[in-house]
Amino acid sequence: MSDSAYPPEDDRFLADVIHGLSQDQKGLPPKYFYDATGSALFDKICELDEYYPTRTEIDLLRQRATDVAQIIDGHHLIEYGSGSSVKIRTLLDAADGLASYVPVDISESHLLAAADSISRDYPDLVVIPVCADFTRAFPLPDDVNDGQKAGFFPGSTIGNFSRADARSFLEMAADMLGVSGNLIIGVDLKKDPEILHSAYNDNEGVTAAFNKNLLHRINRELDGSFDVDAFEHEARYVAGEGRIEMHLISTRDQEVEVSGHTFQFRAGESIHTENSHKYDVDEFHELGRQAGFTPERTWTDSRNLFSVHHLRVAA
Ligand code: AVI
Repeated sequence: MSDSAYPPEDDRFLADVIHGLSQDQKGLPPKYFYDATGSALFDKICELDEYYPTRTEIDLLRQRATDVAQIIDGHHLIEYGSGSSVKIRTLLDAADGLASYVPVDISESHLLAAADSISRDYPDLVVIPVCADFTRAFPLPDDVNDGQKAGFFPGSTIGNFSRADARSFLEMAADMLGVSGNLIIGVDLKKDPEILHSAYNDNEGVTAAFNKNLLHRINRELDGSFDVDAFEHEARYVAGEGRIEMHLISTRDQEVEVSGHTFQFRAGESIHTENSHKYDVDEFHELGRQAGFTPERTWTDSRNLFSVHHLRVAA
């Protein structure tokens, strides 16, 4: 028996699924998209013609790498949710005086493999992997804590947080980075809803497979009985909320079991699986200010699809 204050991961997954499917508006937390299959599908999404954010952000970082390198030189560079540490290479190629690179990720195996690969490719760089849930405050090694710190949070992952959670995350980052600490953050911009619609309803159906993988995962790991073909992927831009919402729509009345718990679905009823918030530049600056940052610079691409911000922690 575990004496931990935290339930083991499987129990937490089950508890979150039962809670989410018991609400009037059924929902499932998007963090469960990313098992091995979901992560591979997300990598495929990033390569789709319609899904502009990854490509646009990497181009922006490449174009502005020298500017960003000047900001982060001499700093301990903390990457929130580093995954396979791909985008950071653009900055590591341009920076030559980093105190250290601190990738932070909840998946230990992924984190250590990525840290090894960075150490091999940048032998002079001090790499200090930290296994933690970066959405909550977590301790940094003393050497890092005592030095000058910069944060890197690419991919518009902040868009998957509610606006309140985005503010809390920024407050936590400001606290961790300390006065005059720097944050480089990628944020997807509000734009023509048609472009957003195509990005989240791609022709090949990869995003649909990514969304439905959540039901396959529940079937596999939690003894679920979802008939996945009886649910349809839907992604819609909700202008009032400034966000893409992803849903899975039940195509018929049906009953589903998950680890012995029964859930009823009406035809047309949805499970809300993800929000992807979009921000205007000014709106994001305001959010940064509320969280204790001063917006220093913002880089956008020529089509105004995506933004990379440099925020500095205010005194
Ligand atoms: C990870 N995150 C920033 C992606 C997004 O665009 O919100 C997740 C995603 N969902 C569907 N396509 C991509």
